Amino acid sequence: MIRKLFIWGNVLLFLFFLIAIAKDTFRPWMPYQRNYRRMQADAETGDTQKAILSRPIEIKQVLATDLGQVDRCITCHQGMDNIATPSLTNNFTENPYKSHPGDYLQNHAPDKYGCVICHGGQGIATDFVGAGHTPHSEAQKEEWRRKYGWHPAEHWEHPMLTQPYIQGSCVKCHGNFESMPETQAAAQGKHLMETHGCLGCHQWHGWGGPISVDLAEETANKPLTRIDFSHSGLDAEDRTLLNWIQLHFLKDPWELNPGDPKALVNTEPIAPSGMQNFALPSAASPDAGPELSQDDAVALTTYILSAQSASIPHAYYVEGPPEKTFEQMHFSSRIQAGKWVYDKYGCAACHGLGAKGGRRNFNYLGLYEPALVKSVSNYTRDELRKKIQDGVAVLNKEDPKGPTPPLYMPSWKDKIKGDEMESLLDYLFSIAEKQEEF
Ligand code: HEC
Ligand code: HEC
Ligand code: HEC
Ligand code: HEC
Ligand code: HEC
Repeated sequence: MIRKLFIWGNVLLFLFFLIAIAKDTFRPWMPYQRNYRRMQADAETGDTQKAILSRPIEIKQVLATDLGQVDRCITCHQGMDNIATPSLTNNFTENPYKSHPGDYLQNHAPDKYGCVICHGGQGIATDFVGAGHTPHSEAQKEEWRRKYGWHPAEHWEHPMLTQPYIQGSCVKCHGNFESMPETQAAAQGKHLMETHGCLGCHQWHGWGGPISVDLAEETANKPLTRIDFSHSGLDAEDRTLLNWIQLHFLKDPWELNPGDPKALVNTEPIAPSGMQNFALPSAASPDAGPELSQDDAVALTTYILSAQSASIPHAYYVEGPPEKTFEQMHFSSRIQAGKWVYDKYGCAACHGLGAKGGRRNFNYLGLYEPALVKSVSNYTRDELRKKIQDGVAVLNKEDPKGPTPPLYMPSWKDKIKGDEMESLLDYLFSIAEKQEEF
């Protein structure tokens, strides 16, 4: 009996040994290296060809120590990096063999930057799925499913970024991104954030309004476990941070975050999201398309993703021009200066573009915030200044038993002062509609 066990045990051990060897010989990245070596060799003759054929098949990696990254992408993407794979010819046109488009690797030496700092993905992985490849279309997704058994990488929250989202990576290092041609989607996102009142409710690195989260410090780094996708309509596979952010501009946030206004589950009623529906036209141009287009949504998402935390050493950072203060701006008039102040503090968050139409506010008496163009002429200058300084913390409710309206008028006393305040008042009076008109 013991002898039998011993024999069978040895047979089993030998089998495991064979399997281990087989696994080692047929690792998923090996065929890519063999193919590339053969393709390179075929294009050469003599000693060069010999040199190529003697190159070992092995895991290749970049130790980007300064950036805290170990990237093995070039284990498959052989043609990319001339240092790891002396690129004798570089005219292979198919991924993963082709050379890198543009000057990106010339400007960012692969042995110092690696790949993941721009692309995202899981640098340490050596298989197609684990690397976190992201298809750029539904058709490509289907193709990848067939060819590579594609699915989102497990336990990995930073899949690769396709264009233009990859521009968010450039912003991490390029303070000059607003003037770079390659990063115009990110620049557009920043511009939209500054003109559509996002920072009247949200903050960006601590600066902004008190209503909701810091989009840079909290949202851009939100773990998936802290996101409630249950009303998003997204399939399990599409439940990414990128899609969560983007849906806030394409779908009604009341759908994404419906609260519990009738207190069906909670003991107190909870209002739905305080964020308006940007998929609708703005009150300033009711006949135009949505206030934020599909492209705008992509641009905002790109810019928000730029705030994903990364430790960038000083030597890797490119300074941009400093943000201009009110005093450094050259305005052609005080009214123009006041418009700038209105945008900067995100008054449009609640009073709309150009103060032309208040945003919705769940269970607020009248349901919409005041359209300042209509109400400002009821105020004297001193009254208006005081109103803006004091804010209105408690609002009247439409239904006294209903939830507290999610938005209130913040106090601006500590933020808007002196010339900024006076030009804001000039601006508001300049756009006020005359009483006779309605
Ligand atoms: C196991 C091999 C392998 C590894 C490891 C790998 N890739 Fe790939 N990659 C491929 C293959 C194969 C394709 C081509 C897919 C196709 O058929 O379109 C590809 C395609 C790509 C594309 C183009 C996608 C597109 O839109 O067509 C990018 C970008 C990319 N890889 C980046 C990376 C980065 C960054 C890493 C490291 C984090 C990496 N890859 C690691 C095999 C690999
Ligand atoms: C400085 C940022 C940056 C770095 C570093 C970088 N890439 Fe890219 N890569 C890009 C951008 C941006 C694109 C998209 C180019 C375009 O579409 O204009 C791209 C495109 C690609 C593609 C798609 C090529 C195609 O057209 O199908 C592959 C594959 C790729 N990169 C792999 C890599 C690998 C592997 C590394 C590391 C050796 C790397 N990249 C390093 C920014 C970078
Ligand atoms: C890890 C930081 C980092 C990332 C990420 C990064 N860059 Fe750079 N980039 C640099 C540094 C540093 C330089 C060198 C600047 C210099 O020499 O003055 C540079 C140089 C460049 C240059 C050459 C022109 C110049 O300003 O010197 C271009 C163009 C460029 N980057 C574009 C991009 C784009 C586009 C992306 C995103 C796809 C990107 N970079 C991502 C750090 C980065
Ligand atoms: C009137 C106030 C208000 C304005 C203006 C506003 N938001 Fe929001 N936003 C909220 C509230 C409240 C939430 C949290 C509830 C929710 O998820 O809908 C939120 C949620 C978000 C989220 C998801 C945050 C997370 O961590 O889950 C994103 C992303 C977002 N907003 C981006 C923006 C951008 C970009 C703009 C400008 C185009 C904007 N918001 C304008 C109030 C506002
Ligand atoms: C988070 C939402 C929010 C933001 C941001 C906001 N307001 Fe308000 N504002 C309100 C609400 C709500 C009211 C109505 C208060 C009430 O019912 O008395 C209001 C009222 C006002 C009024 C009085 C209007 C009237 O009809 O009596 C003025 C003036 C005003 N806001 C100016 C501003 C200015 C200027 C800014 C930017 C510096 C600003 N608000 C930013 C929510 C906001």
